[in-house]
Amino acid sequence: MFRKILVVSVLILGLSASAPWGRAQQQKVDGEGHPWWQHAVFYEIYPRSFADSNNDGIGDLNGIASKLDYLKDLGVDAIWITPCFPSPQVDFGYDVSDYEAIDPMYGTMKDFDHLVGEGKKRNIRVILDFVVNHTSDQHKWFQDSKSSKTAEHRDWFIWRDGKGPGQPPNNWLSTFGLSAWKLDPKTNQYYYHYFYPEQPDLNWRNPAVEKAMLDATRFWYKRGVSGFRLDAVDTLFEDPKLTDNPLLPGTDKFGRPNMNEKYNKKLPEVHDVMRKLRGAADEFGSVLIGETWTANVSELKDYYGAKNDELQLPMDLMMTEFKGLKADQYRKHIGAVNAAGHWPVYVITNHDIVRSYTRYADGAHNDDIAKLMAALYLTLRGTAIMYYGEEIGMENNDPKSKDDVQDPIGKLGWPLEKGRDGERTPMQWSDGANAGFSKAKPWLPVPPSYKTHNVASEMKDANSVLGFYRELLSLRRKEAALLEGDYLSLNENDPNVLAYVRRYKDEAILILLNMSGTDQQVRLDFSSMGFAAPKVSVILTSFHKPLLPASGFVPMEPYSAFIAKITK
Ligand code: GLC
Ligand code: CA
Repeated sequence: MFRKILVVSVLILGLSASAPWGRAQQQKVDGEGHPWWQHAVFYEIYPRSFADSNNDGIGDLNGIASKLDYLKDLGVDAIWITPCFPSPQVDFGYDVSDYEAIDPMYGTMKDFDHLVGEGKKRNIRVILDFVVNHTSDQHKWFQDSKSSKTAEHRDWFIWRDGKGPGQPPNNWLSTFGLSAWKLDPKTNQYYYHYFYPEQPDLNWRNPAVEKAMLDATRFWYKRGVSGFRLDAVDTLFEDPKLTDNPLLPGTDKFGRPNMNEKYNKKLPEVHDVMRKLRGAADEFGSVLIGETWTANVSELKDYYGAKNDELQLPMDLMMTEFKGLKADQYRKHIGAVNAAGHWPVYVITNHDIVRSYTRYADGAHNDDIAKLMAALYLTLRGTAIMYYGEEIGMENNDPKSKDDVQDPIGKLGWPLEKGRDGERTPMQWSDGANAGFSKAKPWLPVPPSYKTHNVASEMKDANSVLGFYRELLSLRRKEAALLEGDYLSLNENDPNVLAYVRRYKDEAILILLNMSGTDQQVRLDFSSMGFAAPKVSVILTSFHKPLLPASGFVPMEPYSAFIAKITK
């Protein structure tokens, strides 16, 4: 990385170690009306895989607490911890058997309080994951529900008679590979599960379910949690008539007919629940992030709510589905998201998606591409959600054989579907044993790349992926234009280089991203901005060679990022 360091005055934010995240503090806005979560960088932690404090091969809450200084130094404002509640771990925590406790595997409630307290000292908030759609089949609600047709909790889940002997109520399929219905011999009825059979869907049409679930969120808000990431919101409601889904041509990864899931996904009632969850969050000034898989920007827009009364941060997961790096595809998408008028939320990967490093890698410029993508999602107007390990260029480590698979869908769908183990491997802290994650054999194997891609080694190398992330994250904090500025696209006809500015008052930050594997010469025209003869000062590049002065254009290396300040 070659850069000219500009002298910038660093704004030191006042921190108060003991300040609780009270409602007022949570809702405070800056001079431009932004609450904390709009400028925040969120960091997703998969707790099994982040840091193992008691050396049993599985990460835990004390492990996370021990890494808060690292996260603070990196520039993280909030951590989102995927489910750490009691769970039989069929879906590694997404099968919750008690919404108001911590799984002993991860620690105790005291450890949790300690983590929140240590986070507060460093101005790092804690966001939990709320599994809204289903419980575990071991949850006491479901245990009671299945006990008899007249049980108190019978109607908390979705029970129906089959169509005939051995025939489920309709043709709906579980996204995890089998029918979405499971016959329970005790009462001879089927229950509905969109995910694993061990994850029965809650019946959100029952007001008692709604009350219990809203209360579970309040339980955690009162304990100092600053918000939730809402899991699998698309599937909260089903057509009460159980209409069969229309079939589509072709088959899926499990060899089943494709279908249009119009009767068991994205029903309009979902938005009523979003509003209710938001109502409970607002009592505490908390923030809701949504796992919102949307087909287009208009669907995404709906999740903010017609009156801005649903999710503050519905994740834009659409970029994770782009194939290859095409400047024009990104330009169009980002333009549409900004035009929709809401506060964007950018994500490039998570615990269900192949790591971005692996998805974009071309074999020759892997680290360069990781830096390029970082420069994209961390400089756009909006909130950024990182996934642990992206900052060091962690790659997927898919199971080599079916016997190695932990994620049940990988066993069921092998070899077409290898499951999600590959993107969930232990955080690579050092080049020591088990990548410094644990003294015991980790629950998933670390990939060979830990020798070069790990926190300890990359900390010493300013040209590493981590070095670049650290620079970017600190820039994001320092430059008002990156936080407050609007988004303006430049050079719209360039098929290779994505160019934009973030403009705020009399200054702007220019970002150039060469999404091609060849050198590019970028000529810029700032006249549309009203900056007739602007002064351009380079702040950060991912170039390998010194940036040579060139008149009238910026010479860019393959897959590189260039960031400069522009003043009138
Ligand atoms: C979400 C989670 C995923 C989980 C599923 C069922 O998609 O991100 O990991 O398996 O919901 O809860
Ligand atoms: Ca442990």
